[in-house]
Order: sequence, then structure tokens, then C-alpha cells
Amino acid sequence: MLSAMSEPELDFIAGATATEIADSVERAVRQARLAPGDRLPTIRQLGLRLGVSPTTVAAAYGRLRARGVVTARGRGGTAIAGRPPLPVAGQPAYLPPGVRDLTHGGPDPALLPPLDPALERVDRRHRLYGEDPVLPELAALATAQLEADGVPVAGVAVVGGALDGVERILQAHLRPGDRVAVDDPGFAPALDLIRAFGLRPEPVPVDDDGPLPDGLAGALAAGCGAFVTTLRAQNPTGAAATPARAAELRRVLDAHPGVVVVEDDHAGPVAGAPAVTLGGDRPAWAHVRSVSKWLGPDLRLAVLTGDPGTVARVQGRQLVGTGWVSHVLQDLAVAMWSAPGRTALLEEGRETYRRRREALAAALAARGVRAHARSGLNVWVPVADEGTVSRRLLDAGWAVLAGDRFRLRSQPAIRVTVSTLDVADAPRLAGDIEAATAPPRRTRLA
Ligand SMILES: Cc1ncc(COP(=O)(O)O)c(C=O)c1O
Repeated sequence: MLSAMSEPELDFIAGATATEIADSVERAVRQARLAPGDRLPTIRQLGLRLGVSPTTVAAAYGRLRARGVVTARGRGGTAIAGRPPLPVAGQPAYLPPGVRDLTHGGPDPALLPPLDPALERVDRRHRLYGEDPVLPELAALATAQLEADGVPVAGVAVVGGALDGVERILQAHLRPGDRVAVDDPGFAPALDLIRAFGLRPEPVPVDDDGPLPDGLAGALAAGCGAFVTTLRAQNPTGAAATPARAAELRRVLDAHPGVVVVEDDHAGPVAGAPAVTLGGDRPAWAHVRSVSKWLGPDLRLAVLTGDPGTVARVQGRQLVGTGWVSHVLQDLAVAMWSAPGRTALLEEGRETYRRRREALAAALAARGVRAHARSGLNVWVPVADEGTVSRRLLDAGWAVLAGDRFRLRSQPAIRVTVSTLDVADAPRLAGDIEAATAPPRRTRLA
């Protein structure tokens, strides 16, 4: 919801040049004087107040848009983005004591491999500059896993997590202002990243079997340079693309050879659904496989493969920047990835997440509440009013996410992370969700 601010309150937006005006808005966001959704004055209003031309204000807003600080809201004007790429002063979000946190989207730490024995195995030598950016042992493990999943591997880059990989692929192919087809609903930080890069997201609707081919065709017809998708453990819906759906999507993509396909496989072997790829023989594609959900998010590590040109651009750009992902972390990932008992632990992770998802989905179904829970760590529950439902659930002791940050044109819902949900608690949670979605009593009696 946009909140309108009266002009005097916006005195801190000031300056005589586009740079000064843009800087004043950015400063106000950092200082939390402007919040996500706040509307900026119209170009005309601000130009009149500051005594500058509309072109100067338009240039300032254009810069802010290219940096993802503001978004255009059509006739609604220009507003602060849902998540501007800036640190914001103020209190960190906290949960009242006793509230169960089902907001985080992360793995259950109890299902990650133990760090201690893996740290014991890490190579203690200091490595300097000039070594191979990818540890050969990690490349070998990644190649074996990806190829076993049907993802062809012509080369491997190591990046700082799935989102870092997505960002690097987009940077290798796109320019600010380009359009990007993206799952809707989709992973909120991926949408934030797309906007922060000044790209324009084009929604591709998703059902339980993955992105809808007609929706993809519609988005690509708008002239997209990339398609960013999560084909299993989709966040937030849990969708998992079937082979049949993947074949349909490939047919749609065949008509758009210039589109780079970006597969964000953030959950890997604990996704709870087989891997699917749309790449392989496309001119430009990449598959990013993070270790965050099955070795640990703090490793900040993902492997990336794709067509040789894309992998080379990512590696080349990395070489002139950060250079490589720390070999200490790569070595730690190898130690965890190849640790004794790893296969059993992955199986346990996959099964535990499946039980937790299904327990909640079944308990909701028993109450007539529809939910999406095909794979992954989250359950997506369509509701009429996501803000009200999440607030009522907080009062009942459960923190869940209202779905607005995950949506472009799709319908309201809440996202419930089930990765740490005790199966025994599922019926009580489902009951509280049902109660929270009930219309206010007054309406029912009317
Ligand atoms: C779809 C999706 N992509 C990326 C990530 C983050 O992955 P990473 O930690 O590798 O950046 C997540 C985390 O939940 C996710 O759900």
C-alpha cells in the first residue's frame, strides 16, 4: 500500500542537480525517513518546489530507478522500492518471545553435516594468488552430481551462493533497462536483485508443475533478455517442474534463442524432487547449484555451469574482481560433501523436509484449506488478505511471511517455512491458519 506524504514532510528531498536530488532521496532511505512504498512527489511538483526543470527531476528519478532505489508505479508515480539495495538505519526486526519463527526459508541446522570433523580435514596451507580459482576436487564432485542429474557440464565456476551466481549471469548478458522473465510468485531476494540492477521483471505464472508455458511465452513476447527460474523447491510455492513441463518450456524457449536461461537450483539434493534443466543445447544458459540448503548457507558457495561462453564470462569477470571464492571455503565444502555418512544425511534431510511439508499440507487440507507443498522447505498458502493473516498468526505465536514481496501479478498468500516445523505441531498450526483466514465475525453474522 502506498502511503502519501505531504510536501512539507519531504523537505529533505533537495538539490539543484539530478545527482544532488537523487543523493538526497538515497540518504533519506538510509536514514529511514523514506520507507518502502512511500511515494515521491511528482516530477512537476518537485521541479516547481526546487526551482529546477522537470528534466532534472526526471533524470534524478531515472538514476534512482536504475539503482533499484525506487520503482515506477504507473499513474501512481514513483515510489520507494520494496527492498532498496541500501542498509537502513533503525531497529533490526525481532520476534516477540515465544513466537515460532517460520519466516526464514533456511535449512534445519540439525540436518546439516557437522562442521567439526570437516574443519579437521581442511588444508592448513596458506594459498596465495594465482592458483586455480576452482579447487579440482570441488569441480569433480560438482560435475559428478550435476551430470547424474542430467545437467551437462562443460565447465564449472565457483561463486558466492546462488544469488551471486544469478547476479553474475545477468551481468554477463544484460544491461539496466532490459526485461527479465521471472517466476511469479518467485524468490523475493531474486526480484529485489533484478530491480537493484535496474532490470524490469516480467512475471511468469507458476503452478505446482513449474512455470506455465503460455505465461513464459507471454513474458518473452515482451522482449526479455533472460528467464530466471527455480525448477524445484521453488520458493515460495514449492513447485517442481515435471519432465513434461520442462519439455513444453523448452519448446517455448526454442523460439527465443537469444534469451539466457538462468536456473537457480538453491536446494540441490534436499529439494525433494528430481533435478530438471532447460539448458544443455541452448546458446546461452546457466545452472547454479548452491550448497546452502544441504551443506550450510554460511559457506556462501554455489557451483555454476552452463554454455561455455556464459561460464567463461562469469569466470573472467570474477578474475578481474574478487578473483575467486576462498579455497578454505571450497576445501571445507569438499570435506563436507565427501564426508562419510553424507548420503544418509542427505536422504534424511530430504525425507524430513518432505514429512514436514506434507504434515502441514495434510492438516490444512483436512480443514479445507488449500496449500502448495510439492517440494522444498516452504508451504505457500493462498489467502485473501496476507497482511491480516500474518498479523493474526503472529498473535497466535507463529511468525510467517506475508507473500507480497514474492509476488508481481500473482494472488496473495502466506509463506510458511516448514524446515524446522515439528510434525506434531502441524495440526495446531493448520488450525491457527484456518482461524486466521476466517472473515471477521461481524461479516459472518451480517
Ligand atoms: C530460490 C532461492 N534462490 C536462492 C536462495 C539463496 O541461496 P544462496 O544461499 O545460495 O544464495 C534461496 C534461499 O532460500 C532460494 O530459495
